Amino acid sequence: MYNKIDLEIININGEPPKEEPARQYYYMAKCRQWVKSFEQKKGCLPRYCVVNMGCQMNARDSEKLSGILENIGYVKADGEDGDFVIYNTCTVRENANNKVYGRLGYLHGFKKKNPHMKIGLCGCMMQEPEVVKKLKKSYSFVDLIFGTHNIYKFAELLADVLETDSMVVDVWEETDKIVEELPVERKYSFKSGVNIMFGCDNFCSYCIVPYVRGRERSRNPKDILEEIKKLAEDGVVEIMLLGQNVNSYGKNLEEPISFARLLGEVQNIQGIERIRFMTSHPKDLSDELIEVMKNSPKVCRHLHLPLQSGSTRILKEMNRRYTKEQYLELVDKVRDAIEDISITTDIIVGFPGETEEDFLETMDVVRRVRFDSAFTFIYSKRTGTPAANMEDQIPEDVVKDRFDRLLKEVQQIASEKAMEQNGKILPVLVEGLNEQDESLVTGRLSNNSVVHFPGGEDMIGTIQNVRLTECKGFYYMGKVIS
Ligand code: 5AD
Ligand code: SF4
Repeated sequence: MYNKIDLEIININGEPPKEEPARQYYYMAKCRQWVKSFEQKKGCLPRYCVVNMGCQMNARDSEKLSGILENIGYVKADGEDGDFVIYNTCTVRENANNKVYGRLGYLHGFKKKNPHMKIGLCGCMMQEPEVVKKLKKSYSFVDLIFGTHNIYKFAELLADVLETDSMVVDVWEETDKIVEELPVERKYSFKSGVNIMFGCDNFCSYCIVPYVRGRERSRNPKDILEEIKKLAEDGVVEIMLLGQNVNSYGKNLEEPISFARLLGEVQNIQGIERIRFMTSHPKDLSDELIEVMKNSPKVCRHLHLPLQSGSTRILKEMNRRYTKEQYLELVDKVRDAIEDISITTDIIVGFPGETEEDFLETMDVVRRVRFDSAFTFIYSKRTGTPAANMEDQIPEDVVKDRFDRLLKEVQQIASEKAMEQNGKILPVLVEGLNEQDESLVTGRLSNNSVVHFPGGEDMIGTIQNVRLTECKGFYYMGKVIS
């Protein structure tokens, strides 16, 4: 097992191995040498900070970066003034990019005070050539830039950065490689994300993900199940299976396997109490999956099913490959099979050419489905996607008005739906102490809703039966039932 390897026994005087992940462990050992000399000179260990700016996939990638840094000997910094700070970026919407440029200015301030500080940038935004060009030109104080395809090479790139004063840039356009068995530093001891696939082949016309995350690649079921078994042995009780489109998992493997079958096998793993997954594409959600969900006490009562638009015409323009009616039928089918399931969604308003009638179709679906919650987004034009070149981009004031109307409706329905659960006794996985009041703990229901209730640190990571005593709109107050 590589991730238990002792870096001290690796010979760093010879040539680096060609095969992975051995090569990365060689570079980790090299960086460890650097850390030791830092400690000798400064009397303390170098501090790191990994800032996650994106989705659950990015969060998992950030845990991998932290794992490598910890393995090397870095210790976690309290803020962003560490000796190595890295932003794991997102680029789904344009404002995510703007935020990064803003925050880089702030990091530069720290670097002026600590000239040894190294600044890294990685993640989806770095896959855009325009971004890298701009960074090279105007943000020369950045030390390291890499993308989504070579994140496994982080130790090697870091070794490079520690040896040179010039900017190290390594962004790949594509990869078919999946490197396993690198160290991971989990944010939570009791729950973890598990990648089951990378990339996306759907090419929704507004979305940049297929361009920055590359073609769909599934991990081998054997590797996934091994990883989950190890997590369970390590005390993890909840896992979230991660992929841009989990319903098409396994289709391109040498021995194809469906997501439903994988889920069936995951739920046989002892110690795992709760299984979540993200994200499902409505076009690929199979009857087989509904059946597995229905019969499994471990699969959480939550389905995130992005709608994007309720207008069949816009859905076609978006290349979503389902109609309004098909979406509604699917929701009915899921609810008929799994009565207590919570359904959440993503909706975009202001897609090019969206008329008031199209928008009212979206509102109609929202009212008919009554989502338990919905993430609502204003359409953001992403250069390189087909939608960016579509005519009839919608004026800002029209979009804003639609967005406000949608949000109001979504929130009203969500709070009514939450109210329906009030008074019930339900299992809650305790995630931590309440941030405002330490006499309370905070946890989640199977359907992902948040509950606060009196409790202590010893409850963290356990599942408690809790009566929901008060519904506060989007969350509950509760009381443990012994
Ligand atoms: N503009 C606005 N929202 C977008 N999303 C993806 N691309 C865009 C875009 N260009 C939203 C979708 C997706 C979620 C992760 O982000 O709703 O489901
Ligand atoms: Fe983007 Fe569509 Fe792929 Fe989701 S399924 S990542 S929205 S292209």
